[in-house]
Amino acid sequence: MADTNLYPVSEAIAASAHITKDEYETLYQESISSPETFWAAKAEEFLTWDKKWDKVREFDFVKGEARWFDGGKLNVSANCIDRHLAERGDQVAIIWEGDDPSDDLKVTYKEVHEQVCKLANVLKTRGVKKGDRVCIYMPMIPEAAYAMLACARVGAIHSIVFGGFSPEALKDRIQDSDCQVVITADEGVRGGRKIPLKANADTAVAQCPGVSTVLVVKRTGGDVAWDESHDVWYHDAMAEASADCAPEPMDAEDPLFILYTSGSTGKPKGVLHTTGGYLLQAAMTHKYVFDYQDGEVYWCTADVGWVTGHSYIVYGPMANGAITLMFEGVPTYPTAARCWEVVDKHDVSIFYTAPTAIRALMGQGDEFVTQTSRKTLRILGTVGEPINPEAWDWYYKVVGDSRCPIMDTWWQTETGAHMLTPLPGAIALKPGSATLPFFGVEPVLLDGDGKEVVGAGEGSLAIKSSWPSQIRTVFGDHNRLVQTYFSTYPGYYFTGDGARRDEDGYFWITGRVDDVINVSGHRMGTAEVESALVLHEKVSEAAVVGYPHDIKGQGIYAYITLMVGEEPSDELKKELVALCVKEIGPIAKPDVIQWAPGLPKTRSGKIMRRILRKIAANEVDALGDTSTLADPTVVDDLIDNRENKG
Ligand code: WT7
Repeated sequence: MADTNLYPVSEAIAASAHITKDEYETLYQESISSPETFWAAKAEEFLTWDKKWDKVREFDFVKGEARWFDGGKLNVSANCIDRHLAERGDQVAIIWEGDDPSDDLKVTYKEVHEQVCKLANVLKTRGVKKGDRVCIYMPMIPEAAYAMLACARVGAIHSIVFGGFSPEALKDRIQDSDCQVVITADEGVRGGRKIPLKANADTAVAQCPGVSTVLVVKRTGGDVAWDESHDVWYHDAMAEASADCAPEPMDAEDPLFILYTSGSTGKPKGVLHTTGGYLLQAAMTHKYVFDYQDGEVYWCTADVGWVTGHSYIVYGPMANGAITLMFEGVPTYPTAARCWEVVDKHDVSIFYTAPTAIRALMGQGDEFVTQTSRKTLRILGTVGEPINPEAWDWYYKVVGDSRCPIMDTWWQTETGAHMLTPLPGAIALKPGSATLPFFGVEPVLLDGDGKEVVGAGEGSLAIKSSWPSQIRTVFGDHNRLVQTYFSTYPGYYFTGDGARRDEDGYFWITGRVDDVINVSGHRMGTAEVESALVLHEKVSEAAVVGYPHDIKGQGIYAYITLMVGEEPSDELKKELVALCVKEIGPIAKPDVIQWAPGLPKTRSGKIMRRILRKIAANEVDALGDTSTLADPTVVDDLIDNRENKG
């Protein structure tokens, strides 16, 4: 078993680490036994408050409520920018590396301050006030970070929509949170290809009467349509804006952002995060988990459209006055050596990415890595899905030259920041394990009866008490929050993941136990893809499951039942793929479509997804109990005609 594979803490790293083994043990105990004392001290240490809080924490997991640092006042943009100016105004805040390797830019904290203040004033001029929603649909350029911080400065709630989402998906999100401003760019650039962001935004905004301003950054200078009634060029507006803008004093529990994420049912949910607790845990984990030391260059390859980009490109690093690298491109462009070339070019010390990227690069061969030096690398990180031992090994040995510990960080959009993770100077590693809980986090495994598993064992992963960066509500639908996270196991936050705990107390995430799939680290509800597929007039029914995929982790396998009289064809398959791209985006493209004359259902009509998952995974000898099937011949047909026989 992989457990025997233990990588002790490196002495070199422990010598200068923020947290050592003894400190971890003592502080973890303290964080659980005296949470108020622990978090109050950390809130003082990490953040600058305009007014101190009245109460550290209050929570009720029956009602799904949590409040941290209630009564305290602070502004996130002031914490990420202004308070650094005296000491490090001229230090680089953001290193931007363009899609084209010859394109880069360094922006100091002073410069970020100026840009953010101006943009905050632009927002105010366009009528944005505290509590209003602003949608950000941007490529990975510094203006995306300015947009986030400008919203925070005026107290507006941003809702970032990943640039890979379709106009349809963008429209749904703008409407759901009733955004009045959209910040976008003419086009994005990734891997040498242009992405028509403004054109997509135009299509979306045409169905969003509440949008009064579309602010457009000129990234490529490509042709765009223009509607004088609401389109505004970013550079024009910025040219007239004052660089003087006092940060809005915010309550610790005022909303900071909404971020849509997929669940097992229905439309994506607007996960709402607030100000004080979120920023504290983002900053603290960034410093401790990556052992960030002043002046180091830190690079998280995520997109700001995902929570990883929020917490670990912008808010966490900038709250700590770090140098954060923002990459516009993709790891394989112009070649698979790109990441390591960027590491060498900018002297990157800390590199944080997803298993899917590691596997893709691993498949290209070691040469791309070994031709670079990577001598500045000190700490590696991974997030998004369980990392398989082969990929871990390659990352450790080839990328990190067996010198850099790998922080396998388990968390979710809803948790806001790391929850289970090693700490470089404190916790020995086991490949594939997210190891131990971060300070203040109380993970439990629950068995089928909802009882806590004691010691080593397996179960549903749940969290027993509130943590500062916890989801506060589902925007506009608090009942959905309670239903989704606090009802399955009353009194606990249910993560949706299964996990195992070994004899050393290490956690091993086994994957989702609900109908959520994880494709290249992108989270998707199978129901969302099904809803897109059944929009086709020839489709009668669709069932979507995940299946093991070498690079993506999981691939999308769709079973399609056609309307009576319709014939399967390759043409129709193409139309169905195109429909998923249109409704959701390219990340939702089915990898496999199987024509299914019938779907396996129980006598009460419920689709037996368990069986569909087995067939998709080519595990047809292990279908399990099929006695409740209404029509067993359906399954035989699906097995005979399955697409994955490899
Ligand atoms: C789901 C959350 C949090 C940022 C990226 C994804 C899976 C995440 C790990 C890990 C095993 C992981 C879980 C989780 N996941 N990190 N280190 N090991 N699984 O955020 O889109 O909200 O997805 O990603 O299944 O529930 P997200």
